[in-house]
Amino acid sequence: MTEFAARSTRKAATAARMYDYYLGGMHNFPADREAADAVIERFPFVPGAARANRAFVVNAVRRLSESGIRQFLDIGSGLPTVDNVHSVARRIHPDTRVAYVDLDPVAVAESLDILDGDGLAVAVLGDVQRPQSIVDHPEVRRLLDFDRPIGVILAAVLHFVPEHRVADEAVATLIASVVAGSYFVMSHTATESFELFTATEDVYQRRTSTPGTIRTHAEVERLFTGLEVLDPGVVWAQEWRSGAVGERVESPGAGGVWAGVGRKP
Ligand SMILES: C[S@@+](CC[C@H](N)C(=O)[O-])C[C@H]1O[C@@H](n2cnc3c(N)ncnc32)[C@H](O)[C@@H]1O
Repeated sequence: MTEFAARSTRKAATAARMYDYYLGGMHNFPADREAADAVIERFPFVPGAARANRAFVVNAVRRLSESGIRQFLDIGSGLPTVDNVHSVARRIHPDTRVAYVDLDPVAVAESLDILDGDGLAVAVLGDVQRPQSIVDHPEVRRLLDFDRPIGVILAAVLHFVPEHRVADEAVATLIASVVAGSYFVMSHTATESFELFTATEDVYQRRTSTPGTIRTHAEVERLFTGLEVLDPGVVWAQEWRSGAVGERVESPGAGGVWAGVGRKP
């Protein structure tokens, strides 16, 4: 048994490993694949939406690095993928610092393995619903300088915060914690794509420890309150390109995830 396998309980699916399966990764188990397949059966566009979401994150990180951002706080960072935030950002600024935060201990442990010996990156346990504890985390504070702009990433994580008020307040707290010139990279599953959401909700409710929710375009836009939204705005993840519109999404069913980047003025 690998160390990764030994760490995993195998009893329940997790959102992190289901997402890894959608992306075609290797960090998943039968319970994750069964739960993910149940979602895909009802919503065949989900793996494509997951790939579009990841491409959005990579694109946005590159854009922020080109704008001079040298430190990132990635909350709900998930299992390590090929293009991790530190790898993408360091192609532009090799001294980029990254704090990865996730609720899933396996995701944190895997990230720590990948980061072994990396003095400019950490992975810690944290809950986006308790943003102040993330901002105050000693490891995060040791690594990131909150007196300088930070790229905060909240990609495909706020849909695990069911209450609108809690999600809005979490983002507002994080915005208040960083200086002007900081950026927020956010993506979120779209109500418009999941009209028959009960099926997905059931899978995440019954089989994972992180029940999911969905939000409309207007609700996702509201998360950017207090930020200047960069072009092309809050759009389908497939459509987000730095300063331009990417691949056109013809119907909500082909989209899946709203995505945008905002700058604190
Ligand atoms: C779909 S993955 C997204 C990974 C990555 N951010 C991306 O977009 O490519 C969602 C991640 O959010 C994590 N997560 C779920 N609820 C969370 C919470 N309340 N606080 C922090 N992380 C959470 C899950 O463990 C999972 O790793």
